[in-house]
Amino acid sequence: MVKSVETPEPQLLKPGVKAPVKETLLTPRFYTTDFEAIAKLDISAHETELLAIVEELRADYNRHHFVRDQEFKQSWEHIEGETRRSFIDFLERSCTSEFSGFLLFKEISRRLKDRNPILADAFNFMARDEARHAGFLNKSMADFNLSLDLSYLTKSRTYTFFPLEWIIYTVYLSEKIGYWRYILMYRHLQKNPDYQFYPLFRKFESWCQDENRHGDFFKALLRSQPKLWDNWKARLWIRFFLLTVFVTHTITVFERASFYESIGIHPRKYNNQVITETNNTASRAFPIILDTNHPAFFWRLEQCYQNNQKLTEINNSDRPQFLKFWQKLPVITAIIWHMLRIYLVKPIDAELTRETVR
Ligand SMILES: [Fe+2]
Ligand SMILES: [Fe+2]
Repeated sequence: MVKSVETPEPQLLKPGVKAPVKETLLTPRFYTTDFEAIAKLDISAHETELLAIVEELRADYNRHHFVRDQEFKQSWEHIEGETRRSFIDFLERSCTSEFSGFLLFKEISRRLKDRNPILADAFNFMARDEARHAGFLNKSMADFNLSLDLSYLTKSRTYTFFPLEWIIYTVYLSEKIGYWRYILMYRHLQKNPDYQFYPLFRKFESWCQDENRHGDFFKALLRSQPKLWDNWKARLWIRFFLLTVFVTHTITVFERASFYESIGIHPRKYNNQVITETNNTASRAFPIILDTNHPAFFWRLEQCYQNNQKLTEINNSDRPQFLKFWQKLPVITAIIWHMLRIYLVKPIDAELTRETVR
């Protein structure tokens, strides 16, 4: 049984505008990268595939999808208590990560405009999609009398620099994990319509196809650069990013267990399924994937969550700083230990099955 943590009441920046949650290692981040390195990418080996994806993005299949139809036009005051708080938290987290994608893609597109028109177009179309997603989520927040001030967020958040290689690995994974998160939630609510307490979830089927296309673009970009997958260093980085994405996902799902329970989703089953599917999908892009069938795989991920909860408890206590430090040390060591043990499990070679996977 997953122990639910109560979601705190939302803090306000000004009336109706929610103060963004405090930035931590686990909140969605804003990124910047080496724009010069993207401009210089030689994509000639996979140009046909990339051009085909750009044309798909240009076709804009979802241009009429993000419409707030009649179903949205009603009062949502009957959604109360923990369901309301945890849903607002879900909306905010999703909106921030969609908006983070928008800012990064828009900036890349702007910088590449005169230097690499194919990639500039692709990033421009993906920025268009992410802006729609973030905007739609923000309007949903407004239904609960709150919204995020996105221009304030743009200026106030710190931007984390990631080298281009890391951006390609992590954005690829976040698009694909985003696809699985949305589609599994959608399918569950199709089968169990009683839990559909707000019409946003109905939009997820076409919505997640945007994320899928974005993921496919990053896959083609990655495969066009053999140095990103065809050597031992790249394999080590890929294992690391798969692991960190899965640990972060586990912690955030378990921390927000009450939200998933409010829509009838079992957090553990959902987390395991999202991770297994994302890992399998990643075999189309990466030379190796993690062994999610290893008997201790999901147990160790959950141990990371348990220890992270202990860290939060220590941080929130009013004990003196030096005491907190010594109390946190074994807990942090435990997280690193469990991550290391997963990292060292023999990965699955995806290149061996490349022909059958395609
Ligand atoms: Fe998105
Ligand atoms: Fe996306």
